[in-house]
Amino acid sequence: MLLTLAAERRVLFLGGKGGVGKTTVASAVALAAAREGRRALVVSTDPAHNLGHLWGQRIGDRATPLGDGVGGRLRGLEIDPDATTDRHLKDVAHTLKRLMPDNLAGEVDKHMDLSRRSPGTHEAAVLERMTELVEMGMQDYDLVVFDTAPSGHTARLMALPEVMTAWTDGLLNRREKSAKLGAAMRGLDGDRGRTVLGSTAPRDPIEERDDEIRSILLRRRDRLAGLREVLVDSALSSFAIVLAAERLPVLETIELNAELTRTGVDIGALVVNKRSPADRGDFLARRRAVEDEHLVTLRDALPRVPLQEVPLGEEDVVGPAALERFATLL
Ligand SMILES: Nc1ncnc2c1ncn2[C@@H]1O[C@H](COP(=O)(O)OP(=O)(O)OP(=O)(O)O)[C@@H](O)[C@H]1O
Ligand SMILES: [Mg+2]
Repeated sequence: MLLTLAAERRVLFLGGKGGVGKTTVASAVALAAAREGRRALVVSTDPAHNLGHLWGQRIGDRATPLGDGVGGRLRGLEIDPDATTDRHLKDVAHTLKRLMPDNLAGEVDKHMDLSRRSPGTHEAAVLERMTELVEMGMQDYDLVVFDTAPSGHTARLMALPEVMTAWTDGLLNRREKSAKLGAAMRGLDGDRGRTVLGSTAPRDPIEERDDEIRSILLRRRDRLAGLREVLVDSALSSFAIVLAAERLPVLETIELNAELTRTGVDIGALVVNKRSPADRGDFLARRRAVEDEHLVTLRDALPRVPLQEVPLGEEDVVGPAALERFATLL
């Protein structure tokens, strides 16, 4: 079922509590897609990456070939938020220094240093990298699978494009107003420095700076709006929640579903992983009966979301061959 969902989408997000099997499921889905002939990229957004451990190779923040016998169609990438933050802050500092008087260059550096450590910078960097990867994915891949960090973090991340677009719009509106006010003031001031159509008079440096800031903000707003368009387009992307049939993961899943639905993100599947077998002794049979009760709660709360169960295996899932077997269960 999950493979069918992925087969009809360009972007798939996997979320859920820690240790439920997000990385395993994400890798298996991407591997199965590559087997089917699609170019697939699996991306880890979790700062505590375990994609590399699962595949038994170093991955890092560059699309790295994974798996044998899939014609090089599968790649993996682990987002490096520190590198993204550095790149982002360097860009911002460069722009600011160009726009500010020279004697404030030191202040810009100080501000950038503080920004690096301030709350939200890390998330913004991950979001920026995800935006880039979705843009790249739309061109170079048929499917991008995001293996996200445990629940709370992901829900906030998915809401960020909307929040940041609104924030940028607010900033632009304020700039607009102050630009008008500025123009009116300059008008009172005898029109000094204003560009007159057809004249060769130099432009007011303040006006020029305002224009540049405006265009930077607009560019950023458009990129975030582009990401949001993909996130809320259920024909293009979907979100699958991975969980264990236990009390807390079930409650968190219901909460995560509500949060994501509010953000406009479609929940395409619930993957109940590590289901205990009914026929391997009394202990596991009792365990399964308890799981059944939790699944009734889940079903009552979310009756319409397609649900997939995956049995608990005897061993951990490590390496391409084990992932290949795991994919047949999806
Ligand atoms: N169906 C299964 N049967 C047996 N072991 C499983 C199954 N699914 C996953 N595992 C094992 O459970 C462990 C956790 O899986 P995984 O790393 O995919 O979870 P995760 O949700 O990505 O965790 P984290 O939140 O820490 O990133 C791994 O050792 C994996 O091999
Ligand atoms: Mg993981």
